[in-house]
Amino acid sequence: MSYRATFRVWRGDASGGRLQPYEVEVNEGEVVLDVVHRLQATQTPDLAVRWNCKAGKCGSCSAEVNGRPRLMCMTRMSTLPPDEPVTLTPMRTFPVVRDLVTDVSFNYAKAREIPSFVPPPGVAPGAYRMAQQDVGRSQEFRKCIECFLCQDVCHVIRDHEENKPVYAGPRFLMRIAELDMHPLDAAAGAGIDRSRSAQDDHGLGYCNITRCCTDVCPERITITENALIPLKERAADRKYDPLVWLGSKIRRRR
Ligand code: SF4
Ligand code: SF4
Ligand code: FES
Repeated sequence: MSYRATFRVWRGDASGGRLQPYEVEVNEGEVVLDVVHRLQATQTPDLAVRWNCKAGKCGSCSAEVNGRPRLMCMTRMSTLPPDEPVTLTPMRTFPVVRDLVTDVSFNYAKAREIPSFVPPPGVAPGAYRMAQQDVGRSQEFRKCIECFLCQDVCHVIRDHEENKPVYAGPRFLMRIAELDMHPLDAAAGAGIDRSRSAQDDHGLGYCNITRCCTDVCPERITITENALIPLKERAADRKYDPLVWLGSKIRRRR
């Protein structure tokens, strides 16, 4: 079954823009990205949109569909009311390049700030052993496709540009949590306290566990319960446990 839908698409660039209405054909089984491609093919060839896989795996077609952060290639038209306009806007948290394309380099800068895995001393590569339970924990986080929808929805930076320098966002706090949980990570021996750095350098305290990031994640990663809350608990344990506090003082004095 085909029908004609009204799409209101944000057109513009860093200097400003507006919602432009289009009437466009929609066919059974299509996703929002199919309709955007039809718009490009039939009415507006200069509409800027980023996409690669059309299979929910490259993380590049992120935008906001009716105000909700979504992958356009994974949003079925059948889930949207056919008699209401569909509003397409770029991710609000990042600067617009043009139309639906945003500059997500904020995220790459945050990624670079996190020290990578520190191999355990005295264990040869290939000789690492981990319990399956530990492997399972970090495997969930490894499903991330870096679509940055969780970063887009997080109110700490969505509504507060001024927080960006001090806040890594859920995707990168999750990365710190993953490394902090890793039984073979030897960061502590190298003088890196990951949970403390999450708190002091990456703004973990700004997160008030509203779960918005978890709700929009297309990979269904339970960011809040499985990464952010355990990381907060570990940061609090280290700060308030008197033995841990004493140990860190002695280490620092040495
Ligand atoms: S749970 Fe925390 S990180 Fe996730 S959206 Fe809410 S404030 Fe942001
Ligand atoms: S955690 Fe989920 S929402 Fe966030 S970047 Fe990764 S896949 Fe996207
Ligand atoms: S085009 Fe790759 S996730 Fe949508």
